[in-house]
Amino acid sequence: MEIERILLTQAQLQTRIRELGAALSADYAEKTPVFVGVLRGAVHFFTDLTLRFPHPCQYDFVGAASYGDGTQSSGQVRLTKDVMTDLKGRHVVVVEDILDTGLTLRFVTDHLRSKQPASLKLCVLLDKPERRRANVAADYVGFTIPNEFVVGYGLDYQELYRNLPYIGVLKP
Ligand code: PRP
Repeated sequence: MEIERILLTQAQLQTRIRELGAALSADYAEKTPVFVGVLRGAVHFFTDLTLRFPHPCQYDFVGAASYGDGTQSSGQVRLTKDVMTDLKGRHVVVVEDILDTGLTLRFVTDHLRSKQPASLKLCVLLDKPERRRANVAADYVGFTIPNEFVVGYGLDYQELYRNLPYIGVLKP
C-alpha cells in the first residue's frame, strides 16, 4: 500500500483550519466551550483547531472505535474512553477527523447528549456524504470529499499513515 496522490496539502489543511477556528471564535467567544476530541483519528485536527481558538475553553476526549483492520466499517461502534468533564449545562463542540458512514458520530453524540449539555455541535475536518448510513450532519465542515479511502493527518489504514502531514489517497 502506498499513497496514490495528495488530496489535501498541509497548507490547504492549515488554511481551512484557521477559517474554522475563526468561525468557532465568533460563535463561542463568551461560552467557554468544551472541545471533545474523538480519539484517535482527530488528534492532529483537534490540536491545530484549538490553537486557533483564542478564548477560554476546555479540552476533553472520548475514545470510539468502529473499524476493523480493513477499509470497511464493521458497523459496530464501541466506547473505549469516556469524558472526564461534567458536561451538564456546558457548550460542547465535538471535534472529529472524518464523518463517513456517520455511525461513530451518531453513537458519540447520543452518548454525550445523555450528559445534558446546554448545546452540542459537531466540527469535522472531512465529510464524505456518499457513504452516510446514519442521519448525522456536521455544523462545521472543513472539506467535503469524494468516496475514496483517505489516510494521513490522524487517519489510518491498519494503524499506519496517521503521521503524514497531509491527507492522501491510498493506491487501490
Ligand atoms: C474512524 C475515524 C472516525 C470514524 C468515522 O475512526 O477516525 O472516528 O472512523 O467513520 P464513520 O463515520 O463511518 O463511523 P476509527 O473507528 O477507525 O478509529 P480511530 O479514530 O482510532 O482510527
